Amino acid sequence: MKKLMAANWKMYKLRGEAGQTAADLVAALAGKLPADREVLVIPPFTALGTTGEALAGQAGFALGAQNFYPSSQGAFTGEIAPEMLLDAGCSYALAGHSERRHILGEDDAMVGRKVGFGLKSGLSMILCVGEKVEERKAGELEAVLRRQIEAGLAEAPADIAPEKLAVAYEPVWAIGTGLTAGPEEVAEAHALVRSMLVERLGAVGGNIRILYGGSVKPGNAGQLLGIDNVDGVLVGGASLEAGSFAAIVTA
Ligand code: G3P
Repeated sequence: MKKLMAANWKMYKLRGEAGQTAADLVAALAGKLPADREVLVIPPFTALGTTGEALAGQAGFALGAQNFYPSSQGAFTGEIAPEMLLDAGCSYALAGHSERRHILGEDDAMVGRKVGFGLKSGLSMILCVGEKVEERKAGELEAVLRRQIEAGLAEAPADIAPEKLAVAYEPVWAIGTGLTAGPEEVAEAHALVRSMLVERLGAVGGNIRILYGGSVKPGNAGQLLGIDNVDGVLVGGASLEAGSFAAIVTA
């Protein structure tokens, strides 16, 4: 399976800027996108249209969403349904990003509902997990990852196709801080996630992509992608500029 190189634009970019950045990214990677990599761009909802237009028909590029409510269309004011994201051209969606967990108060149960409903709706899901610095310091890394993975997969269908699910390990203390987890820390956490996926899903768990996220930059992406069980990256700040993200994609 191709390494998944994902750009999470969070709450940045109006429609025009998003479309332009996506077009610039396509241009920057023209003839340079490695055959073993696919690019996923995850803009704000309001920019799905312009971003999707820029990526349309471009082999190796996919459009994703940062969130949704785990239900079919209905009386859920302010929310977006998976079928609306599919209609807008999305093939992927995130669930459980640490900003939704720790800023917006999303709990493990809701994350699990989103992963399960998103998969059943036809989206490929990226389950985000990761520990806070105080959890790491307290030696709770394995317990936190186990809790988040078990809850995140609680409603997932038993027969998950490996290409339909990815896990993003994003140590909360490395997100947006410029502090990237060291190679040993990444290797340890990704090995733990891998073992938990195999324990929960059997052989399929061995083929599910595990992405690293947390201050990925052009200068560290190559090293990160060379670590066992790192099958891609989930990039925030360094993905907002096309040249920087293109450098990560080709690292
Ligand atoms: O979802 C990816 C994001 O949380 C990482 O952000 O800015 O540290 O690359 P950043």
